[in-house]
Amino acid sequence: MASGRRIAVLQERAPGETRVAATPETVRKLIALGAAVAVEAGAGAAASIGDEDYRAAGAEVGPLGQVLAGAQIVLAVQAPQAPLLTGAAQGAWVVAIHDPFVQRERVDALAGAGFEALAMELMPRITRAQSMDVLSSQSNLAGYKAVIAAADVYGRAFPMMMTAAGTISAAKVFVMGVGVAGLQAIATARRLGAQVSATDVRAATKEQIQSLGAKPIFVESVAGIEGEGSGGYATEMSPEYQRAQAELVSSHIAKQDIVITTALIPGRAAPRLVTDAQIATMKTGSVIFDLAAPQGGNVEGTIADQVVERHGVKLIGFANTPAHLPADASALYARNLLNFLTAFWDKEQGGPVLDAEIGDAIRLTQGGKVVHTRLLG
Ligand code: NAI
Repeated sequence: MASGRRIAVLQERAPGETRVAATPETVRKLIALGAAVAVEAGAGAAASIGDEDYRAAGAEVGPLGQVLAGAQIVLAVQAPQAPLLTGAAQGAWVVAIHDPFVQRERVDALAGAGFEALAMELMPRITRAQSMDVLSSQSNLAGYKAVIAAADVYGRAFPMMMTAAGTISAAKVFVMGVGVAGLQAIATARRLGAQVSATDVRAATKEQIQSLGAKPIFVESVAGIEGEGSGGYATEMSPEYQRAQAELVSSHIAKQDIVITTALIPGRAAPRLVTDAQIATMKTGSVIFDLAAPQGGNVEGTIADQVVERHGVKLIGFANTPAHLPADASALYARNLLNFLTAFWDKEQGGPVLDAEIGDAIRLTQGGKVVHTRLLG
C-alpha cells in the first residue's frame, strides 16, 4: 500500500463564514482510511470545535504554512484564493464550494497555480452521490433556519394558543419554492404549529407538500406548467405562466403572516417572486424571509443581512444562512466531504481516484488548465 495522502483543513477566510470542512469525527475516519490530517489552528472555533478536539482525533494542528506543507488534498468550505495555498503539493486537490460561474478569476488562478479544483456544489444529483451533496445538506439546514429567523422577528406566536386571557390564532406561513430548503421550511413551520401553504413551478412537489400536511397553491390550466428541467431542477417559466403565478400569489400572499422564499434556477439570477406592490397588500407586522437574498433575491427590496421594512412588512435574508448554524452545517458538510473521499479512496494508490461520471461533473481545473465543459467555450 502506498503511503497515505496528506490532507489539509483550512481556516475559512470569507467574512461571516463560520463553518469548517472537517470535524473530529471526519478527521478520525480520514485517518482510518490511511490519510494524515493537518488542521489550521483555530479552524473550528466558530463551529465550537477546539484545536484540542482535532488533536484528540489524531490531527496535527498548526499555522497555515505548516499545515499546507506537502498537502495533496486541501479541504475548505469556500474555495481559497490560489496564493494562499503556497506550499501545497503540485496538483493538489482543492475540495470546496468554488462558485465557478461567479468566481471565474479565482478558478483561473487555481488552474494557473497547478491545482485541481473540485467544486462540491456541482455534484451530480444521482443516487450514489446523495451523501456527497453539499447543496442538499446545507439547504436543509437553511430551510429550518429561515423559519426560526422569521419566527424570531415576527411579533406574534406561531401556534394557536387557548389561554385564560383569550385565544391566539395560528400564524399563516407560505413557502415559495419547494426544493430541499422549502420542504424543511414547511416541516419546521408545521412543527411550530403554523398553518402552512406552499407553491413551486414543479408539479411533482404538489404531493410532497400535501404529505407534509401543508396546502399546495398551484397555477393550473396554463401551458408549460411542468417546470422541471434536468436533474430535478426548475426551468425558467413562460411569460404566460409567470403572469398567472403572479396573480395567484397576489391573492394568496395578502392573507399570509410569514412568507419564506427559496426559489433558485441554477446558473441564473434568482427569479422574482414577490414584488413591492404585493408586499404592500400584506398585513402590517408580516415577515418575509428571502433565502435567495445572496443570489439577488426572490423578493423586491431584500438586502442580505439587513432587516428592511416595506409597507409595515419586515424583509429579511442572510448572506450565508447555513453559517448561522455553524456546528450542524459543519458536521454535515464535513460528512459530505468524507463520504466523497471515502467512496473514491483507492487503497493501492493511498488516495482517492475519481471516475468519469463524477470527475467530469465537479472537476474545474487540471494540469494547469480550466477543464470543466461549462467553463469552456
Ligand atoms: P433549488 O435550490 O434549485 O430551488 C428551490 C426550489 O425553487 C425548487 O423546488 C424549484 O423548483 C423552485 N422554483 C424555481 N423557480 C420557481 C418559481 N418561479 N416559483 C416557484 N418555485 C420555483 O432546488 P433544490 O432544493 O436544489 O432541489 C431541486 C430538486 O432536486 C428537487 O426535486 C430535489 O428533490 C432534487 N434533489 C435530488 C438529489 C439527488 O437525487 N441526489 C439531491 C438533492 C435534490
